[in-house]
Amino acid sequence: MESVIGLVNRIQKACTVLGDYGDDRSLPTLWDSLPTIVVVGGQSSGKSSVLESMVGRDFLPRGSGEEIRPFCALFFAAAAAIVFDCWIVTRRPLVLQLYKTDQGQEEYAQFLHTGNKRYKDFSVVRREIEEETDRVTGKTKQISSLPINLSIYSPNVVNLTLIDLPGLTKVAVEGQPESIVREIENMVRSYVDKPNCIILAITPANQDVATSDAIKLAREVDPTGERTFGVLTKLDLMDRGTNALDVLDGRSYRLQHPWVGVVNRSQADINRNVDMIAARGREREFFATSPDYSHLASRMGSEYLAKLLSKQLEAVIKACIPGMMSLINKSIDDLEEELNHLGKPVAVDSGAQLYTILELCRAFDRIFKEHLDGGRPGGDR
Ligand code: GDP
Ligand code: NA
Ligand code: MG
Repeated sequence: MESVIGLVNRIQKACTVLGDYGDDRSLPTLWDSLPTIVVVGGQSSGKSSVLESMVGRDFLPRGSGEEIRPFCALFFAAAAAIVFDCWIVTRRPLVLQLYKTDQGQEEYAQFLHTGNKRYKDFSVVRREIEEETDRVTGKTKQISSLPINLSIYSPNVVNLTLIDLPGLTKVAVEGQPESIVREIENMVRSYVDKPNCIILAITPANQDVATSDAIKLAREVDPTGERTFGVLTKLDLMDRGTNALDVLDGRSYRLQHPWVGVVNRSQADINRNVDMIAARGREREFFATSPDYSHLASRMGSEYLAKLLSKQLEAVIKACIPGMMSLINKSIDDLEEELNHLGKPVAVDSGAQLYTILELCRAFDRIFKEHLDGGRPGGDR
């Protein structure tokens, strides 16, 4: 039987195609009810790195990175467009759907907007994300809430769906349009405000947790810490003689779920093209051999994080199925009524489209019922 995560992935794709992606916040839609995991954090906190470690592939567009930004500011302060280019890379939500395949299977990626085309070269995936971002936001480098939907099929992943959003920023550099900062914050909020949203709060260890953008936002929208997973990056960059045990043990900022520490590739590793799977190995070794963290090694690292999130997402989805079903049933009622209004036979395009949606809703309704019945095998697919 298809996993519940796969099932929700299909609903998510359908919603995107049908224009329901959280743009209209006046009334609750099916999209709003979908359980999701959203990655939040400040610029350069390590969001992209965490995502890539969980995938085991290097495929996300890169900015020049924090290290280079002051350089941009210094030399291009007058040319706002270029400064801007240096910092906002993620300008549309990226819905990343991971599917575990059998050992030995070849990895590939598929975009919703390119249909069945299979991408086996992940540098082409990166370029396609960049080009597709520009296609919608234009060369003006605005942001857009229309998601890019990317599926990755690989033996090196767990079944998991994550949404990468533009990084929160406070804006310091002259020439950056003030409105973009607010737009990003609004977009991030439109996701994290939803009660079914799991917040992956990316926080660098070489910075005070209390000042982390991710934790500041999480504290506001999820004060009890029920749906926030704290991820502490850059543990390898802490000053000698200091450690992050206060954070990892929940003394600095308490969450209901334990904090997970990770060690991603450094900028030097990226420049040297250090392989992602090798980097995972090094991360494991870091925790296993660290005098500070070895006692926590079994619940640290990006592989552990991916498994933990997969389990959590599945649990949240199962809890949300009744709510999603009632929205789907409501859609079925609405659509049937609309079709009745159009009258039969329905030859016009809109009728045909409504009919397709109706079929889709009925299919989901049936599949959900099967899952509620305790996962009888058979049924879909
Ligand atoms: P994002 O802006 O939040 O997506 O951050 P990135 O993932 O692009 O990371 C920003 C910079 O920090 C890059 O140069 C990364 O190599 C570096 N970085 C991220 N995580 C770690 C880490 O755990 N250790 C080290 N040494 N560098 C890291
Ligand atoms: Na942050
Ligand atoms: Mg990034």
